[in-house]
Amino acid sequence: MATILITGGTGLIGRHAAKLLCAQGHTVRILSRRARPDVPLLRGLPVDYVQGDVRVPASLVPAFAGCDAAVLSHQFQNFPVENPRRNETFDAVDRAGTEHCVAAARQAGVRRLVYISGVALGNPNPPHPGIRAKRAAERAIFESGIPSVALRANVVYAEDDKYFSRLARAAQWAPFAPIPGAGAARCAPVHVDDVARAIARAIECPTVGGVVNVCGPDEVTWKELLLAVAQSSSAGRRKIPLHIPQPLLLLAGWIGERLPTPLLSRDAVIFATQFDQSCRDGAGCAEAFGFQPIGLREGLRMTFARRG
Ligand SMILES: NC(=O)c1ccc[n+]([C@@H]2O[C@H](COP(=O)([O-])OP(=O)(O)OC[C@H]3O[C@@H](n4cnc5c(N)ncnc54)[C@H](OP(=O)(O)O)[C@@H]3O)[C@@H](O)[C@H]2O)c1
Repeated sequence: MATILITGGTGLIGRHAAKLLCAQGHTVRILSRRARPDVPLLRGLPVDYVQGDVRVPASLVPAFAGCDAAVLSHQFQNFPVENPRRNETFDAVDRAGTEHCVAAARQAGVRRLVYISGVALGNPNPPHPGIRAKRAAERAIFESGIPSVALRANVVYAEDDKYFSRLARAAQWAPFAPIPGAGAARCAPVHVDDVARAIARAIECPTVGGVVNVCGPDEVTWKELLLAVAQSSSAGRRKIPLHIPQPLLLLAGWIGERLPTPLLSRDAVIFATQFDQSCRDGAGCAEAFGFQPIGLREGLRMTFARRG
């Protein structure tokens, strides 16, 4: 059994990975900026918390000390809306923060790195700060000299996520589902348990390297996905798509960027409406880890149907 550090272990993917790794008998340590985080999913589990910040290299040394493996699953608060005034940016947290983690991991003699990346990196077009930062972060782990794998996750859904669970709750009474823009961008949503499973398999299989896509088996448009989430929580009742025009969203993003705590930005709008997240190229979970993530219909039923 290994001692495993999870950065971002209080976040969606990190906490589900922590739960699974604990159940498998590993010793799990979580890096958090808070001294005493309270993570409901992990209450009662033997998880150690270490206070630190990926932007502050010195704070990472005690976190990585004595670890066999590290799962890097941090991202700045309020993703994907950057807040440069608070140094909450893709560059500060995803790129530089990951580079600091790699340096601390090397210093500590960590033998396996699992970086949680995004499938949008397979998209050749976008000169987006998030893609640039995550490409640099992937480069840092591959050039570290430590056996490393980057798991490029697709859109993740879970009962305790920030976005789909709210939509599912709201959809119980609302006759419509809000769709940003045309909702035509494609994705292959994956259940959080399958991402956690891929992380556990990545630690068990140190010979798997490079990039592995962690995608669900069903490719849909955002419009189809949002309608399916809304319908799954209300006993399959059909919902009316309510398209929010992209120019309106961009205007809201422009205004949002000027607020002290931005709730929306133009980059965030582009991320939500234009990023192709289909999973066509490269190895997936079946090839790399020998399992197939759950299908969307069954996954949504399992996740949200009880709310109906
Ligand atoms: N969720 C998705 O749909 C999805 C899809 C594709 C890829 N991904 C990728 O998967 C990774 C994890 O995403 P997630 O959705 O699980 O994240 P999340 O729920 O937003 O959680 C973010 C985590 O990052 C930590 N964090 C933020 N700033 C930090 C800092 N400066 N230093 C140390 N830790 C910091 C937070 O910990 P504290 O607040 O406790 O400090 C929190 O645990 C990200 O790289 C993301 O891009 C996610």
